[in-house]
Amino acid sequence: RKSAPLPDDIRARKGATPLVSLTAYTTPMAELMDSHCDFVLVGDSVGMVLHGLPSTLGVTMEMMILHGKAVKRGLRQAMMVVDMPFGSYEESPEQAFRNAARLMSETEAGAVKLEGGVGMADTIAFLVARGIPVMAHIGLTPQSINTLGGYKVQGRGDAAAQLIADAEAVSEAGAFAVVLEKVPETLANEITAAVPIPTIGIGASAGCDGQILVVDDMLGLFTRFKPKFVKRYATLGQQAEAAVAAYADEVRRRAFPSAEHVFGDSAQEPKS
Ligand code: KIV
Ligand code: NA
Repeated sequence: RKSAPLPDDIRARKGATPLVSLTAYTTPMAELMDSHCDFVLVGDSVGMVLHGLPSTLGVTMEMMILHGKAVKRGLRQAMMVVDMPFGSYEESPEQAFRNAARLMSETEAGAVKLEGGVGMADTIAFLVARGIPVMAHIGLTPQSINTLGGYKVQGRGDAAAQLIADAEAVSEAGAFAVVLEKVPETLANEITAAVPIPTIGIGASAGCDGQILVVDDMLGLFTRFKPKFVKRYATLGQQAEAAVAAYADEVRRRAFPSAEHVFGDSAQEPKS
């Protein structure tokens, strides 16, 4: 594939081979995942993962723009989706358009993502009608943590019907895909069968049309806590700490820098 897929290409992958996606917040991470992912999400998880915030509520438009620009520089093949941060879209469709347009124009994203189902359907339709592709996000929506009452599994028992209604509403409003976060496997499969747009699972089901994970979680770089749905494919945080410890030890023993890292005063030697 030469150029990034468009939201319509992502939508057309419904029922085909699974869509692959990860979050990214920086250029080098975007570069290394570019050829492996269909789309890369600049998630508002950046606030917790890279800025040490206790939740995603403190994430700002400025943070999303800064990280969105950085990620965009690292992508050639994957589509970029940028999260709309808490407070930037809930007030009205007009407010959502103003901020979504800013995210799209300043970061050159291919689409935005926002949290919410039935209650956000009008806003999604408003954005799509004005040229802004929208990925929806239902189930556990971390920006609503204070009304959801914790990071609990969503859609169990009687709550299942509401979640199906949310998925149908965002699909009918024109979202090109929908993230399902932390919902029971059977419900995720049911929603996947019920809507004509791809479902992107995180803590959902292998039967979803695609999967996403927070890159720092799957690489073992973010270790403050580990949700059950995270699989660690590497333990880079441990490796990084071991490297820092080795450096500290060598500096204290004057073992670093050694001959190969220092410069002689002969003009014959390399200049850099
Ligand atoms: O912010 C984020 O990383 C997300 C994904 C977990 C879907 O919204
Ligand atoms: Na998010």
